[in-house]
Amino acid sequence: MLEEKNISDSGLNTIALPDVPMDDLALVYSRFLSLMSLYQAAADEIVTKFQILDNEFSAKYQRNPIHTLKSRIKSPDSIIGKLNRKGLPISVEAIRTNLYDIAGVRVICQYIDDIYTLAGLLTSHDDIELLKTKDYIKNPKPNGYRSLHIVVNVPVFLSTGKDYAPVEIQIRTMAMDFWASLEHELHYKTSKNVEQSLSDELYYCAETIADTDKRMQEIYKKINGYK
Ligand code: GTP
Ligand code: MG
Repeated sequence: MLEEKNISDSGLNTIALPDVPMDDLALVYSRFLSLMSLYQAAADEIVTKFQILDNEFSAKYQRNPIHTLKSRIKSPDSIIGKLNRKGLPISVEAIRTNLYDIAGVRVICQYIDDIYTLAGLLTSHDDIELLKTKDYIKNPKPNGYRSLHIVVNVPVFLSTGKDYAPVEIQIRTMAMDFWASLEHELHYKTSKNVEQSLSDELYYCAETIADTDKRMQEIYKKINGYK
């Protein structure tokens, strides 16, 4: 059942807003909304590109490399939290110049090779510019987290002309996603403080999962030939 929330429960009352005239506030809000719709459009374009690639694979090779495709725009609360953590001003300009993960797309694949194939194909598109790569599969994080993160700059065609927005794309296997989702929830529910033995256990689970991913990839190759 949906619960109704008071404004005072929404967390908004905890954000210290500068005392600005209503006209200025309305202008800033309208610029913020325009920026968010730019990020949404950029995320939608990336989702469409992946859908097209997945459909093409399905037609050519009778398989879908993408298991799930999700996109999200960072919430205003998270945006403000991140600007505060980075010691940046709360402004539309600061968001635009410093935050690269307002638009996020997560691609969940079947096999490890699919991750690199999809990332390679997307970044070969001549309208896409690769801004950043973090390969947490080749270099897993100390806690065992694995995923390929790329940030791309995407053109968006608006009534006012062409603009660009960065999109952070996380590409991982179903197994990596299983671990990341549970690890995220466990840390969230325990206020990010997990005793060492449990962190070791989570790390061990990540390694086991990574080993299983490699074995599944090998089985796939043996059944389908090395093509
Ligand atoms: P952020 O300030 O968190 O955005 O750090 P960053 O810009 O250095 O980005 P990074 O590429 O390291 O991670 C960005 C996102 O990847 C996070 O917001 C999570 O969604 C995911 N992520 C990174 N590390 C972990 C991890 O250890 N566990 C889980 N579950 N997710 C992670
Ligand atoms: Mg980030």
